[in-house]
Amino acid sequence: MKFLVTGSAGLIGSQVTKDLVLENHEVYSCYHDDKPIYGNPLQLDLTSQGKIIKTIREIKPDSIIHLAAMTNVDLCETQQELAYLINTKATEILAKQAAKLDTFFVYVSTDYVFDGKRGKYSEDDSTNPLGYYGKSKLKAEEALNELASSWCIARTSTPFGIHSNKKSFPIWIKESLEAKKEIPVLIDQFTSPTYVPNLSKMLIEIVKRQILGVIHTAGASRISRYELAILMSEKLHLDKELLKPIQTSDMTWNVQRPKDSSLDVSKATEILNEKPQTIQHSLNLLIEKILYK
Ligand SMILES: NC(=O)c1ccc[n+]([C@@H]2O[C@H](COP(=O)([O-])OP(=O)(O)OC[C@H]3O[C@@H](n4cnc5c(N)ncnc54)[C@H](OP(=O)(O)O)[C@@H]3O)[C@@H](O)[C@H]2O)c1
Repeated sequence: MKFLVTGSAGLIGSQVTKDLVLENHEVYSCYHDDKPIYGNPLQLDLTSQGKIIKTIREIKPDSIIHLAAMTNVDLCETQQELAYLINTKATEILAKQAAKLDTFFVYVSTDYVFDGKRGKYSEDDSTNPLGYYGKSKLKAEEALNELASSWCIARTSTPFGIHSNKKSFPIWIKESLEAKKEIPVLIDQFTSPTYVPNLSKMLIEIVKRQILGVIHTAGASRISRYELAILMSEKLHLDKELLKPIQTSDMTWNVQRPKDSSLDVSKATEILNEKPQTIQHSLNLLIEKILYK
């Protein structure tokens, strides 16, 4: 199959393009600044609408996995016009082009479309993003419904894994504790941390089976940042006394984050062959990879 992947050098994109290349697919790896390692690199700034159209018309992919986004929550709040262009408008244009070519479109969205007042959100629950990042991603979800012909919205939560320059949460915990650094960790923010290799396999399965609609492709465990940090420290036999519990009310964020944006993954667990993994299992796999890479 011929794939076009946006955000291909990002935390999730680098794993997805690697997995696709290993399966011998033809992969066009779109990037902005960082050149991807896997697939045929294709420089594409998503703020350039004409360039998006030209690229899709030239490549004519069978499937698009759209991962690129402005993911910095604070920056999205202060630079809303840019966040709109990258997160919403570019998705609209990609979806429109995909529909013209009958290309299957997977849009990777976020748990931040929810307000986090309840947690364990299912696909049918009402959305209510707190900040502009979540709003811009939700607007893109809504555009797909109108503009794309065959699409899937795959929402995920706190992705983590190994990346050359993106430090995900468990890696930050490991490095800080190894350096004997005391670190503050939130006890009252809950998500469904998702191991990137698990997510990548779920996304690829969605494309191959052309699964339509909204699906929560996240980890199977709801856990606080603090509990996750404790688990990581115990598994690596590092000093958990260095983890200092703090509350969201102690933070000086300029934009509020959802308190509990954990996702109900029953649908993915039921229909996918690649099941959402528990945090215990995912951390074991991550640590194995760190120790034996
Ligand atoms: N990270 C999270 O906590 C999280 C949680 C839930 C959902 N998601 C969603 O998952 C997807 C992938 O996230 P990730 O964690 O892999 O993010 P990431 O590592 O920050 O990667 C985002 C990618 O978007 C690209 N990008 C940004 N601006 C661009 C532009 N103007 N033109 C073209 N590409 C541009 C970046 O390319 P350059 O680096 O080259 O600029 C980067 O490779 C996103 O859609 C995000 O909303 C993320």
